[in-house]
Amino acid sequence: MNCAVLAVLAVLCCCCALRTDARPARLRSRPLDNSETWNNVMVIAKHAQAQDRDHETRLIPVISSDKLKDGDVCCVNVKILDYYLRHILDSQAREHHYPRMHLVKPDLVRVARDLEPHCNSKQVDLEHVQTFTQNLKRAGEMYKNNTKAQNKAIGEIDILFHYLYESCSATSTS
Ligand SMILES: *[C@@H]1O[C@H](CO)[C@@H](O)[C@H](O)[C@H]1NC(C)=O
Repeated sequence: MNCAVLAVLAVLCCCCALRTDARPARLRSRPLDNSETWNNVMVIAKHAQAQDRDHETRLIPVISSDKLKDGDVCCVNVKILDYYLRHILDSQAREHHYPRMHLVKPDLVRVARDLEPHCNSKQVDLEHVQTFTQNLKRAGEMYKNNTKAQNKAIGEIDILFHYLYESCSATSTS
């Protein structure tokens, strides 16, 4: 091999290395792109909404579509998902009460597990997460029934899933 060939190879290798480094970390969780999971999430949300008579209250704070796209809110949504898994979807009774919960829960656990390691807790807008938990608490007080407030949260699970889908894109790193 002559020097010219070696030089070209060296440049190529360099470019490859640079390109690999420049590519943002992949941040995507398979259930977010799975139409069956989407379908099951919608079935659960509809079931919960049908039992909910309060159409004024909303628990999950609204995120504008611009903000969803800019990538900074993925981890906020992951934190809310984590709260759902720990405090709302944790009981066995829920699995019997909501159709397809036994299918959706493992998918949500997987989304949280895939995305959480990419979330730096210092970067997360905790105020947004707190607004959600306060809304949930207030709804429980208003209904004098936490189960009803949690049912409302389950009725918003389609919103949460949509937010995760939109904000945790393949190239997002935050
Ligand atoms: C709270 O709401 C749930 C679901 O609507 C109902 O089954 C339960 O009886 C209620 N509990 C109380 C204490 O009213």
